[in-house]
Amino acid sequence: MNDANEVQARRKVLDEAFHELWGCFDMAEKVLLGDSLPERDTPKTYPDFSHLVEELAPEPTPPSGSRIDGCSLEQLGALVSSCMACDLCSTRKHTVFGEGVVLPKVMVIGEGPGADEDATGRPFVGRAGQYLDKWLASIELSRNRDVYIANIVKCRPPQNRDPSPDEMTACIAYVKRQILLVKPQTILCIGRIASQAMLGTTDGIGKLRGKFYNYDGIPLLVTYHPAGVLRNPEYRRPVWDDLQRLAKFLNIPIPSRG
Ligand code: URA
Repeated sequence: MNDANEVQARRKVLDEAFHELWGCFDMAEKVLLGDSLPERDTPKTYPDFSHLVEELAPEPTPPSGSRIDGCSLEQLGALVSSCMACDLCSTRKHTVFGEGVVLPKVMVIGEGPGADEDATGRPFVGRAGQYLDKWLASIELSRNRDVYIANIVKCRPPQNRDPSPDEMTACIAYVKRQILLVKPQTILCIGRIASQAMLGTTDGIGKLRGKFYNYDGIPLLVTYHPAGVLRNPEYRRPVWDDLQRLAKFLNIPIPSRG
């Protein structure tokens, strides 16, 4: 059970317990005040226990900036796994923190988990992820050796909708801390959502891609999202150009495409 469901389950049990207690007091009152022994029945009305229940089974407070600022990668993962800073926590199966090597050649940043990632707790394991692996392999990069992968939001938006601005605001401190701890040589933002969030702009991806930006001293490149390229093969060429740009920056010799 995830944390959001656990809080709800605890509240339900508490609420039922208060109702039973109330029934006992109601019965005791009838026994003590009545002339004859009453039939055992359940009270028809109950006080509203919701405030008491919420106080006794509180939602964990979202991590404050200072908690995130001081923590290690492992501690950050633990914060993410219990995060309830936005509503996505109530529909997720797993948080998807991110994974890969520290000091990677590339840190790939996507938008947020899809169904496969939500089911496994791992980033980019579905169809788009397998395609991304091929992109990386085409410039001699391997996920196990050279790459760290994370997303802007760590919980799946229902029906794979875009994460809302509020959800991104609640989550973005995590990926920023991840970048500081992972210390990548370069960052590759894939897709509009991740690129806009990291660069703090509303410019479209067509305008943003194709050049390096400076993210706190780290060269950051933007390209299309593999899911978008699977739907729109005309994006393949610009993605290949972007990958070559990245390889050149990393001094990786790339065979030219036939
Ligand atoms: N798309 C993303 O942006 N991230 C994932 O982890 C999977 C699909």
